[in-house]
Amino acid sequence: EEQLLAWKNRIKQLLEQQNAVLVAHYYTDPLIQSLAEETGGCVSDSLEMARFGAQHKAETLIVAGVKFMGETAKILTPDKRVLMPTLEATCSLDIGCPIDEFSAFCDAHPDRTVVVYANTSAAVKARADWVVTSSIALDVVDHLDSQGEKILWAPDKHLGGYVQRETGADVLLWDGSCIVHEEFKAKGVADLKALYPEALVLVHPESPVAVVELADVVGSTSQLINAAKNSPNKQFIVATDQGIFYKMQQLCPDKEFIVAPTAGAGATCRSCANCPWMAMNALENLCAVLEPGGAEGHEIFVDPELGKRAMKPLQRMLDFRK
Ligand code: 13P
Ligand code: SF4
Repeated sequence: EEQLLAWKNRIKQLLEQQNAVLVAHYYTDPLIQSLAEETGGCVSDSLEMARFGAQHKAETLIVAGVKFMGETAKILTPDKRVLMPTLEATCSLDIGCPIDEFSAFCDAHPDRTVVVYANTSAAVKARADWVVTSSIALDVVDHLDSQGEKILWAPDKHLGGYVQRETGADVLLWDGSCIVHEEFKAKGVADLKALYPEALVLVHPESPVAVVELADVVGSTSQLINAAKNSPNKQFIVATDQGIFYKMQQLCPDKEFIVAPTAGAGATCRSCANCPWMAMNALENLCAVLEPGGAEGHEIFVDPELGKRAMKPLQRMLDFRK
């Protein structure tokens, strides 16, 4: 307790001294999310993290999330210093889409518009026509489909499949997935639903199709939070990372949120859906990067030429929906 408070106070002091702002994802430790809120930073989904970082006047962005989020911030504002509590925090979607194989896949399908999820490396983004996050994917693909374009989608096959079913677009899928969301089981969600018949089922579209089919609402982290806030329901079954409960509970103190099971069918689990890479962000390493000399080995660098190419599809995303 005392140690946590000491870190919090020290981080606040260092953020101010260094003209730095904290940008955190909804999946990070609640202590980090609350600190971002208290210090004028932002807690949001990956689209709003990108937007916030790009517009904020601070010289340094501290990105608490996973590596692609730090890289996106650096690509959009190459003149800012972008630091992360750890550069080890990656994402199974990023790992599952290496640039050489991806580039060959694109070359083999030159007639397709290349749309990549934000959960990718800078090099993969640089090869794309569009970058999207889960909150904007449907709208962008719908728009491209209405222009008669055929899509090459990477890397998340579950989100891509969802977008394909919803829009009816011609979508060729890369075979990637999120190790956290892929573990949600339809049988487990259905069993929970039987236990809580009044509950609304909220599902992130990185989940398998059988789970998405049981959803009342499918959406990005911020869309799920809004659904919880705006719905008259009092109970929710939530299939996404448990970090999201901090914001849901804060906005809806009188509502009950139940995490969808990831273990065996029928099991109820209150602590399993937790991204191991998001969990690498803690107050301790956040504080350490801000200490004198602490930034070394924690700064995001993107090759400027690559960054310029990656910026185009990213900027297209930000301009698509202001
Ligand atoms: P959101 O864009 O919905 O915040 O999702 C990012 C992510 O990594 C989900 O696993
Ligand atoms: Fe990647 Fe899944 Fe973790 Fe999100 S939750 S960062 S998609 S591994």
